[in-house]
Amino acid sequence: MQKPILILGACGQIGTELTIELRAKYGSENVVASDIREGSESLMASGPFELLDATNYEAIEDVVMHYEIDEVYLMAAMLSATAEKFPMRAWNLNMNSLFNVLNLAKDRKINKIFWPSSIAVFGPNTPKEHTPQNTIMEPSTVYGISKQSGERWCEYYFNKFGVDVRSVRYPGLISWKTMPGGGTTDYAVEIYHEALKKGTYSCFLNESTKLPMMYMDDAIRATIGLMESDPEKLSVRSSYNLGSMSFAPKEITQSIQKHIPGFKVTYAPDFRQEIADSWPSSIDDTTAKKDWNWKPAFDLDSTTGEMLDNLKKTS
Ligand SMILES: NC(=O)c1ccc[n+]([C@@H]2O[C@H](COP(=O)([O-])OP(=O)(O)OC[C@H]3O[C@@H](n4cnc5c(N)ncnc54)[C@H](O)[C@@H]3O)[C@@H](O)[C@H]2O)c1
Repeated sequence: MQKPILILGACGQIGTELTIELRAKYGSENVVASDIREGSESLMASGPFELLDATNYEAIEDVVMHYEIDEVYLMAAMLSATAEKFPMRAWNLNMNSLFNVLNLAKDRKINKIFWPSSIAVFGPNTPKEHTPQNTIMEPSTVYGISKQSGERWCEYYFNKFGVDVRSVRYPGLISWKTMPGGGTTDYAVEIYHEALKKGTYSCFLNESTKLPMMYMDDAIRATIGLMESDPEKLSVRSSYNLGSMSFAPKEITQSIQKHIPGFKVTYAPDFRQEIADSWPSSIDDTTAKKDWNWKPAFDLDSTTGEMLDNLKKTS
Protein backbone atom coordinates (compact mmCIF):
# COMPACT_ATOMS: atom_id res chain seq x y z
CA MET A 1 0.00 0.00 0.00
CA GLN A 2 1.29 3.49 -0.93
CA LYS A 3 2.16 5.60 2.13
CA PRO A 4 1.20 9.31 1.94
CA ILE A 5 3.45 11.82 0.18
CA LEU A 6 3.72 15.58 0.91
CA ILE A 7 4.86 18.07 -1.74
CA LEU A 8 6.13 21.46 -0.52
CA GLY A 9 6.00 24.18 -3.20
CA ALA A 10 3.49 22.13 -5.21
CA CYS A 11 2.07 25.08 -7.20
CA GLY A 12 5.24 25.93 -9.12
CA GLN A 13 6.46 24.89 -12.57
CA ILE A 14 7.66 21.43 -11.50
CA GLY A 15 5.43 20.87 -8.46
CA THR A 16 2.21 21.23 -10.47
CA GLU A 17 3.10 18.46 -12.93
CA LEU A 18 4.80 16.30 -10.29
CA THR A 19 1.70 16.42 -8.06
CA ILE A 20 -0.63 15.46 -10.90
CA GLU A 21 1.64 12.59 -12.00
CA LEU A 22 2.13 11.26 -8.45
CA ARG A 23 -1.65 11.39 -7.90
CA ALA A 24 -2.26 9.45 -11.11
CA LYS A 25 0.28 6.85 -10.01
CA TYR A 26 -0.38 6.48 -6.28
CA GLY A 27 -3.96 7.75 -5.84
CA SER A 28 -5.10 11.35 -5.21
CA GLU A 29 -5.74 10.91 -1.49
CA ASN A 30 -2.15 9.69 -0.99
CA VAL A 31 -0.52 12.87 -2.35
CA VAL A 32 -0.90 16.05 -0.29
CA ALA A 33 -0.01 19.22 -2.22
CA SER A 34 1.09 22.34 -0.30
CA ASP A 35 2.38 25.83 -1.04
CA ILE A 36 2.23 29.38 0.36
CA ARG A 37 -0.31 30.20 -2.35
CA GLU A 38 -3.06 28.37 -4.20
CA GLY A 39 -2.24 26.75 -7.54
CA SER A 40 -3.95 26.19 -10.87
CA GLU A 41 -7.57 25.09 -10.97
CA SER A 42 -6.68 21.60 -12.17
CA LEU A 43 -4.13 21.14 -9.39
CA MET A 44 -6.46 22.42 -6.66
CA ALA A 45 -9.27 20.15 -7.88
CA SER A 46 -7.11 17.03 -8.08
CA GLY A 47 -6.66 16.17 -4.37
CA PRO A 48 -5.83 17.38 -0.83
CA PHE A 49 -4.14 20.79 -0.47
CA GLU A 50 -2.67 22.65 2.54
CA LEU A 51 -1.46 26.25 2.71
CA LEU A 52 1.99 25.68 4.19
CA ASP A 53 5.20 27.71 4.58
CA ALA A 54 8.21 25.47 3.95
CA THR A 55 10.32 27.59 6.33
CA ASN A 56 7.96 26.86 9.28
CA TYR A 57 9.10 23.59 10.91
CA GLU A 58 6.15 23.27 13.30
CA ALA A 59 3.59 23.82 10.54
CA ILE A 60 5.19 21.13 8.34
CA GLU A 61 5.41 18.77 11.32
CA ASP A 62 1.66 19.25 12.02
CA VAL A 63 0.76 18.32 8.41
CA VAL A 64 3.20 15.38 8.46
CA MET A 65 1.59 14.03 11.65
CA HIS A 66 -1.98 14.71 10.51
CA TYR A 67 -1.65 12.81 7.20
CA GLU A 68 0.96 10.30 8.49
CA ILE A 69 3.31 11.41 5.72
CA ASP A 70 6.08 9.01 4.69
CA GLU A 71 7.88 10.91 1.86
CA VAL A 72 8.43 14.64 1.25
CA TYR A 73 9.25 16.27 -2.10
CA LEU A 74 10.66 19.74 -1.36
CA MET A 75 10.03 21.91 -4.45
CA ALA A 76 9.80 25.33 -2.71
CA ALA A 77 12.80 27.55 -3.52
CA MET A 78 13.79 30.93 -4.90
CA LEU A 79 15.23 30.47 -8.40
CA SER A 80 18.44 31.84 -9.93
CA ALA A 81 17.37 35.17 -11.47
CA THR A 82 15.10 36.21 -8.56
CA ALA A 83 17.71 35.11 -5.99
CA GLU A 84 20.24 37.60 -7.40
CA LYS A 85 17.75 40.36 -6.53
CA PHE A 86 16.94 39.10 -3.01
CA PRO A 87 20.06 37.22 -1.81
CA MET A 88 19.20 36.86 1.89
CA ARG A 89 15.58 35.89 1.25
CA ALA A 90 16.79 33.26 -1.22
CA TRP A 91 19.36 31.90 1.22
CA ASN A 92 16.81 31.75 4.07
CA LEU A 93 14.13 30.02 1.98
CA ASN A 94 16.42 27.60 0.16
CA MET A 95 18.39 26.53 3.24
CA ASN A 96 15.79 26.65 6.04
CA SER A 97 13.22 24.66 4.07
CA LEU A 98 15.87 21.98 3.40
CA PHE A 99 16.96 21.81 7.07
CA ASN A 100 13.32 21.46 8.13
CA VAL A 101 12.83 18.43 5.93
CA LEU A 102 16.24 16.88 6.69
CA ASN A 103 15.57 17.25 10.44
CA LEU A 104 12.12 15.65 10.15
CA ALA A 105 13.83 12.63 8.54
CA LYS A 106 16.67 12.64 11.10
CA ASP A 107 14.00 12.43 13.84
CA ARG A 108 12.33 9.57 11.91
CA LYS A 109 9.07 11.50 11.38
CA ILE A 110 9.40 10.89 7.61
CA ASN A 111 11.32 8.19 5.75
CA LYS A 112 12.35 9.57 2.37
CA ILE A 113 13.11 12.98 0.83
CA PHE A 114 13.38 14.33 -2.71
CA TRP A 115 15.21 17.65 -2.94
CA PRO A 116 16.20 19.13 -6.32
CA SER A 117 19.57 20.65 -7.00
CA SER A 118 20.51 22.41 -10.23
CA ILE A 119 23.21 22.86 -12.89
CA ALA A 120 23.71 26.18 -11.02
CA VAL A 121 25.98 24.31 -8.57
CA PHE A 122 28.66 24.63 -11.27
CA GLY A 123 30.60 27.83 -11.86
CA PRO A 124 32.94 29.63 -14.27
CA ASN A 125 35.88 27.30 -13.45
CA THR A 126 33.91 24.11 -14.16
CA PRO A 127 34.66 22.28 -17.45
CA LYS A 128 31.84 23.52 -19.71
CA GLU A 129 31.29 20.56 -22.06
CA HIS A 130 30.16 17.16 -20.73
CA THR A 131 30.50 18.47 -17.19
CA PRO A 132 31.34 15.41 -15.06
CA GLN A 133 29.50 14.27 -11.91
CA ASN A 134 32.52 15.15 -9.76
CA THR A 135 34.45 18.23 -10.82
CA ILE A 136 35.36 21.81 -9.84
CA MET A 137 32.16 23.57 -8.76
CA GLU A 138 32.69 27.09 -7.27
CA PRO A 139 29.21 28.51 -8.12
CA SER A 140 29.14 32.30 -8.55
CA THR A 141 25.40 32.95 -7.94
CA VAL A 142 23.41 33.12 -4.69
CA TYR A 143 21.16 30.35 -5.99
CA GLY A 144 24.12 28.14 -6.96
CA ILE A 145 25.78 28.66 -3.59
CA SER A 146 22.54 27.62 -1.83
CA LYS A 147 22.19 24.52 -4.03
CA GLN A 148 25.82 23.48 -3.55
CA SER A 149 25.50 23.94 0.23
CA GLY A 150 22.25 21.95 0.10
CA GLU A 151 24.02 19.09 -1.68
CA ARG A 152 26.73 18.99 1.00
CA TRP A 153 24.10 18.92 3.77
CA CYS A 154 22.10 16.14 2.04
CA GLU A 155 25.21 13.97 1.81
CA TYR A 156 26.09 14.80 5.43
CA TYR A 157 22.62 13.81 6.72
CA PHE A 158 22.80 10.56 4.72
CA ASN A 159 26.28 9.68 6.07
CA LYS A 160 25.78 10.80 9.69
CA PHE A 161 22.11 10.06 10.32
CA GLY A 162 21.11 7.56 7.61
CA VAL A 163 18.59 10.01 6.09
CA ASP A 164 17.29 8.64 2.76
CA VAL A 165 17.55 11.82 0.71
CA ARG A 166 17.69 11.72 -3.10
CA SER A 167 18.45 14.50 -5.55
CA VAL A 168 19.08 15.42 -9.18
CA ARG A 169 20.70 18.51 -10.66
CA TYR A 170 17.89 19.61 -12.99
CA PRO A 171 18.89 21.48 -16.14
CA GLY A 172 16.55 24.24 -17.48
CA LEU A 173 13.05 22.76 -17.67
CA ILE A 174 10.62 23.31 -20.53
CA SER A 175 6.89 22.85 -19.92
CA TRP A 176 3.54 24.16 -21.18
CA LYS A 177 1.23 23.66 -18.16
CA THR A 178 2.80 26.16 -15.71
CA MET A 179 5.02 29.18 -16.41
CA PRO A 180 8.56 29.09 -14.99
CA GLY A 181 9.29 30.88 -11.70
CA GLY A 182 12.25 33.28 -12.18
CA GLY A 183 15.12 31.19 -13.56
CA THR A 184 17.81 31.92 -16.15
CA THR A 185 16.44 29.36 -18.62
CA ASP A 186 12.87 30.79 -18.59
CA TYR A 187 13.42 32.09 -22.13
CA ALA A 188 13.09 28.53 -23.44
CA VAL A 189 9.44 28.48 -22.30
CA GLU A 190 8.54 32.11 -23.04
CA ILE A 191 9.78 31.76 -26.63
CA TYR A 192 7.07 29.18 -27.48
CA HIS A 193 4.29 31.33 -25.99
CA GLU A 194 5.46 34.44 -27.89
CA ALA A 195 6.03 32.52 -31.14
CA LEU A 196 2.36 31.54 -31.14
CA LYS A 197 1.00 34.84 -29.77
CA LYS A 198 3.09 37.43 -31.64
CA GLY A 199 5.43 35.67 -34.07
CA THR A 200 8.35 37.56 -32.49
CA TYR A 201 10.40 37.25 -29.30
CA SER A 202 13.03 39.38 -27.60
CA CYS A 203 15.49 36.99 -25.94
CA PHE A 204 17.33 37.96 -22.71
CA LEU A 205 20.31 35.69 -23.55
CA ASN A 206 22.52 36.06 -26.61
CA GLU A 207 21.97 33.76 -29.58
CA SER A 208 24.87 31.38 -28.94
CA THR A 209 24.47 30.74 -25.19
CA LYS A 210 24.26 26.95 -25.11
CA LEU A 211 22.73 25.51 -21.92
CA PRO A 212 21.56 22.06 -20.76
CA MET A 213 17.77 21.74 -20.99
CA MET A 214 15.07 19.09 -20.52
CA TYR A 215 11.40 18.59 -21.35
CA MET A 216 9.22 18.42 -18.22
CA ASP A 217 7.95 14.87 -18.91
CA ASP A 218 11.56 13.63 -18.75
CA ALA A 219 12.20 15.58 -15.54
CA ILE A 220 9.12 14.10 -13.82
CA ARG A 221 10.07 10.59 -14.99
CA ALA A 222 13.61 11.08 -13.65
CA THR A 223 12.31 12.33 -10.30
CA ILE A 224 9.89 9.46 -9.73
CA GLY A 225 12.38 6.93 -11.19
CA LEU A 226 15.06 8.00 -8.71
CA MET A 227 12.60 7.91 -5.79
CA GLU A 228 11.51 4.38 -6.70
CA SER A 229 15.08 3.08 -7.10
CA ASP A 230 16.66 0.50 -4.83
CA PRO A 231 18.63 2.53 -2.24
CA GLU A 232 21.49 0.03 -2.42
CA LYS A 233 22.13 1.04 -6.04
CA LEU A 234 22.48 4.78 -5.34
CA SER A 235 26.14 5.79 -5.17
CA VAL A 236 25.43 9.57 -5.03
CA ARG A 237 23.69 11.15 -2.03
CA SER A 238 24.62 14.74 -2.85
CA SER A 239 22.91 15.09 -6.25
CA TYR A 240 23.01 13.30 -9.60
CA ASN A 241 23.98 15.02 -12.88
CA LEU A 242 20.98 14.69 -15.20
CA GLY A 243 21.41 15.23 -18.95
CA SER A 244 19.06 15.41 -21.89
CA MET A 245 19.58 18.03 -24.63
CA SER A 246 21.69 21.19 -24.95
CA PHE A 247 20.92 24.10 -27.22
CA ALA A 248 21.40 27.85 -27.73
CA PRO A 249 18.61 30.39 -28.43
CA LYS A 250 19.41 30.36 -32.17
CA GLU A 251 18.80 26.57 -32.27
CA ILE A 252 15.44 26.67 -30.48
CA THR A 253 14.50 29.51 -32.88
CA GLN A 254 15.34 27.31 -35.88
CA SER A 255 13.36 24.43 -34.37
CA ILE A 256 10.28 26.70 -33.97
CA GLN A 257 10.74 28.10 -37.51
CA LYS A 258 10.18 24.56 -38.89
CA HIS A 259 6.56 25.04 -37.68
CA ILE A 260 6.26 28.87 -37.90
CA PRO A 261 8.54 29.94 -40.80
CA GLY A 262 8.08 33.70 -40.24
CA PHE A 263 9.05 33.58 -36.53
CA LYS A 264 11.65 36.27 -35.66
CA VAL A 265 13.87 36.62 -32.57
CA THR A 266 15.87 39.66 -31.45
CA TYR A 267 18.51 39.57 -28.73
CA ALA A 268 18.75 41.91 -25.73
CA PRO A 269 20.92 40.17 -23.11
CA ASP A 270 20.32 41.39 -19.52
CA PHE A 271 21.75 40.46 -16.08
CA ARG A 272 20.81 36.83 -16.70
CA GLN A 273 23.52 36.56 -19.41
CA GLU A 274 26.24 36.62 -16.74
CA ILE A 275 24.48 33.84 -14.80
CA ALA A 276 24.13 31.72 -17.95
CA ASP A 277 27.80 32.29 -18.86
CA SER A 278 28.84 30.74 -15.54
CA TRP A 279 26.95 27.48 -16.18
CA PRO A 280 27.87 24.34 -18.17
CA SER A 281 26.88 23.87 -21.82
CA SER A 282 26.32 20.12 -21.57
CA ILE A 283 26.17 17.50 -18.82
CA ASP A 284 27.70 14.03 -18.43
CA ASP A 285 25.09 11.91 -16.66
CA THR A 286 26.82 8.52 -16.93
CA THR A 287 26.44 7.88 -13.18
CA ALA A 288 22.65 8.39 -13.21
CA LYS A 289 22.40 6.10 -16.25
CA LYS A 290 24.46 3.41 -14.54
CA ASP A 291 22.93 3.62 -11.03
CA TRP A 292 19.19 3.89 -11.80
CA ASN A 293 18.86 3.45 -15.58
CA TRP A 294 18.14 7.11 -16.36
CA LYS A 295 17.36 7.69 -20.06
CA PRO A 296 15.83 10.85 -21.56
CA ALA A 297 13.13 10.52 -24.23
CA PHE A 298 12.78 14.06 -25.68
CA ASP A 299 15.15 16.02 -27.94
CA LEU A 300 14.78 19.63 -29.10
CA ASP A 301 12.52 18.95 -32.08
CA SER A 302 10.20 16.58 -30.20
CA THR A 303 10.01 19.13 -27.36
CA THR A 304 9.11 21.87 -29.87
CA GLY A 305 6.38 19.66 -31.37
CA GLU A 306 4.88 18.95 -27.92
CA MET A 307 5.10 22.58 -26.77
CA LEU A 308 3.48 24.10 -29.86
CA ASP A 309 0.75 21.42 -30.10
CA ASN A 310 -0.24 21.72 -26.45
CA LEU A 311 -0.05 25.52 -26.28
CA LYS A 312 -2.23 25.77 -29.41
CA LYS A 313 -4.84 23.50 -27.79
CA THR A 314 -4.91 25.44 -24.51
CA SER A 315 -4.74 29.06 -25.77
N1 LIG B 1 12.40 24.97 -13.24
C1 LIG B 1 13.67 24.74 -13.50
O1 LIG B 1 14.12 24.90 -14.64
C2 LIG B 1 14.59 24.24 -12.41
C3 LIG B 1 15.91 23.91 -12.74
C4 LIG B 1 16.77 23.47 -11.75
C5 LIG B 1 16.30 23.28 -10.45
N2 LIG B 1 15.01 23.61 -10.14
C6 LIG B 1 14.58 23.43 -8.75
O2 LIG B 1 13.35 22.70 -8.68
C7 LIG B 1 12.56 23.17 -7.58
C8 LIG B 1 11.19 23.62 -8.09
O3 LIG B 1 11.38 24.61 -9.06
P1 LIG B 1 10.18 25.28 -9.89
O4 LIG B 1 10.74 25.62 -11.21
O5 LIG B 1 8.98 24.47 -9.78
O6 LIG B 1 10.04 26.65 -9.06
P2 LIG B 1 8.79 27.65 -9.04
O7 LIG B 1 9.34 28.98 -8.66
O8 LIG B 1 8.00 27.52 -10.29
O9 LIG B 1 7.93 27.06 -7.84
C9 LIG B 1 8.31 27.17 -6.50
C10 LIG B 1 7.07 27.11 -5.64
O10 LIG B 1 7.46 27.29 -4.28
C11 LIG B 1 6.49 28.11 -3.66
N3 LIG B 1 7.07 28.72 -2.47
C12 LIG B 1 7.86 29.82 -2.39
N4 LIG B 1 8.15 30.08 -1.10
C13 LIG B 1 7.55 29.12 -0.36
C14 LIG B 1 7.47 28.84 1.01
N5 LIG B 1 8.09 29.61 1.93
N6 LIG B 1 6.76 27.76 1.42
C15 LIG B 1 6.11 26.98 0.53
N7 LIG B 1 6.13 27.20 -0.80
C16 LIG B 1 6.85 28.26 -1.24
C17 LIG B 1 6.08 29.12 -4.70
O11 LIG B 1 4.81 29.67 -4.39
C18 LIG B 1 6.07 28.25 -5.95
O12 LIG B 1 4.79 27.71 -6.21
C19 LIG B 1 13.38 24.30 -6.93
O13 LIG B 1 14.16 23.75 -5.90
C20 LIG B 1 14.29 24.75 -8.05
O14 LIG B 1 15.47 25.32 -7.55
C21 LIG B 1 14.15 24.09 -11.10
